[in-house]
Amino acid sequence: MQFTVRKGDILQEKCDLLAINALEGSKADPLVAALDGATGGLVSAVMKEEHFEAKSPETLLIRPPVGFPAKRILVVGMGKKGELKEETVRQAAAVTANAARALRVKMVVSVLHGLEVDELHPKVCGKAMAEGALLAAYEFAKYKSKADERPPVEAFHIVLPDGKQVRPATEGVAMGEAYARATILARDLVNEPPRDMCPAELLAAAKAVATQSGGAVKVKAFGREQLQKMGAGGVLGIARGSDHEPFLVHMTYKPASAKKRVALVGKAITFDSGGISIKPSDAMMTMKCDMAGAAAVIGAFSALSTLKPRLEVHGVFAACENMPSGRAIVPGDVVRAMNGKTIEVLNTDAEGRVTLADAMTYALRQKPDMMLDLATLTGACVVALGEEVAGVMANDPAVARRVLDASKQAGEHMWELPLEQRYKRLLKSEVADLKNIAGKYGGALTAGLFLEEFAGGIPWAHLDIAGPSFAEKPLNPYTRHGGTGYGVRTLLEFIRSF
Ligand code: BES
Ligand code: MN
Ligand code: ZN
Repeated sequence: MQFTVRKGDILQEKCDLLAINALEGSKADPLVAALDGATGGLVSAVMKEEHFEAKSPETLLIRPPVGFPAKRILVVGMGKKGELKEETVRQAAAVTANAARALRVKMVVSVLHGLEVDELHPKVCGKAMAEGALLAAYEFAKYKSKADERPPVEAFHIVLPDGKQVRPATEGVAMGEAYARATILARDLVNEPPRDMCPAELLAAAKAVATQSGGAVKVKAFGREQLQKMGAGGVLGIARGSDHEPFLVHMTYKPASAKKRVALVGKAITFDSGGISIKPSDAMMTMKCDMAGAAAVIGAFSALSTLKPRLEVHGVFAACENMPSGRAIVPGDVVRAMNGKTIEVLNTDAEGRVTLADAMTYALRQKPDMMLDLATLTGACVVALGEEVAGVMANDPAVARRVLDASKQAGEHMWELPLEQRYKRLLKSEVADLKNIAGKYGGALTAGLFLEEFAGGIPWAHLDIAGPSFAEKPLNPYTRHGGTGYGVRTLLEFIRSF
């Protein structure tokens, strides 16, 4: 889908689909009035007769009389003016792209949604429109023998009444394209069947990002032998049951002007069978998503050479597969993580934290000012917050605030959970420094507390993305079934906030 932004009179645009918008409860919409003038009052008459309330993201399709330049008018509801946010704009562009596809329209002309709200800058509107339309058009069709009979939308023209807004809106569109491409990369990595996305393939994906960055992103990787030398007993222990070699992967982006350094750590279990503590079949069906944290980190890195933030970024993930076998780690085994702490593995299905112990230790050695980790860590977090909201746990209120603010702008829902220190005792082991499970209750919190042991006391936030990283049903107009790319856009907003 190609975007253009230009100045023009929307009433004069010859096209198959013209997208305009309407605010809920607004009687005197100037654009609707202008369209009424050109169609003999048709637009407001149809809106009234169809009881169109302009709630977001409702749409209404109108066939204007012959002679009107546009063949169809799509009125997109934006909700109430006071509640209109970046996310409303994203969804407005998404429903427009979806309508165009359904109508088999290859070229759309649209207003710049959100412009009627003073607080929304045209750059933000352009960004949100590109994100919404591109993410809505996403499909994972690699393994389909027959293509969708509906042709993809080829052109999306944004037409503005005021020439001064063309430049910021164009810049916003370019940024939104980068955000969307990064999100789509993460979706593709998650959607790939687990046997086609083993640790070596995940490493290859990081290397491909480096190659495409023109030198801005670099990648280092450590295989089994090097991990043994490094003392990475956590990831090596979890990887034992698998026939696939584990890799600890380190991505870097180091601009000359950087004053701060952040580390982004992603959980990277390419398939989580549960290991010897094997999962029931139903719970395993979506477990190719267990590398979604690493996919978000790789996705975010893919946009850095375009966005050029003035921040040094390190991406770290310990990729391995959690499988049962005669050689697999068994309940009761003790492993020693890279920082020397010993972990009694009482449930091999609580594997993520054991591998993250090594990845976080490695990340700390890069001396970051702060660290984030993204992990599809616990079913308990999904029970607590549902499929659309990630849990945030942080040892520092300023980091938590920055993550939550970034997520709001990104349109990714999060809620802070406590690192409740009184529960630390539940992680005490009889034989090792820590055990990897902590009883029946508060599973998201005890997993967060476990990770805190490997955060080295630096400002750190843990994002449990087990719920929102994989959609078992469509979530909104731009997120359908499968990998969602959740976290990429929050990471990019977070990185740009410095
Ligand atoms: N990868 C799972 C968590 C998960 C659940 C991700 C649902 C996405 C959707 C994780 O490794 C796991 O199995 N966690 C266990 C921990 C338990 C054994 C302490 C869980 O949540 O049941
Ligand atoms: Mn597991
Ligand atoms: Zn897992």
